[in-house]
Amino acid sequence: MTGRARKITVVGDPVLSTPARQVTSFDDELATLIDDMFASLAVAEGVGLAAPQVGVGLAVFVYDCPDGTGKRQVGHVINPTIETSGAPELHDEGCLSVPGPYHELERAGHAVVRGVDKTGAPIEVSGDGFFARCLQHETDHLRGVLYIDHLPRNRRRRVLREMEPFEWNAPVP
Ligand code: NI
Repeated sequence: MTGRARKITVVGDPVLSTPARQVTSFDDELATLIDDMFASLAVAEGVGLAAPQVGVGLAVFVYDCPDGTGKRQVGHVINPTIETSGAPELHDEGCLSVPGPYHELERAGHAVVRGVDKTGAPIEVSGDGFFARCLQHETDHLRGVLYIDHLPRNRRRRVLREMEPFEWNAPVP
């Protein structure tokens, strides 16, 4: 994998609040986007990243995230749909596009995501706990929804006030 880290978009950028377009071309440009998203995720030390977070309004996300048993899950999903089930779980959540703060948020305990991979082949990814939270968070991004959009307005304001830009978040020369 030889991706190049791209600048992470921050809340307020319209690309983050716009539903992503479905991918229809499974070409080299898409493969490069995915490599670059993994590179960006590594620099950011995040667990998931959606294409709008690198300024691309396409329905793609990548993840590198421990599952409910602590096992590392790594992959990408294109044009995802999600089904959730299981008891709701309340945990802290954060987002690279809302840099700095975390806030607790209720998410379903189990999630199944179906979509395609970069070759257009159907894939299914499922998980519990923290990984289920990640899958829900990333599919939300592709609908133009940030985790703070699920919070009451006063809580959302507080999170926004606590934001601090990441010092690494500059365009890579
Ligand atoms: Ni996020």
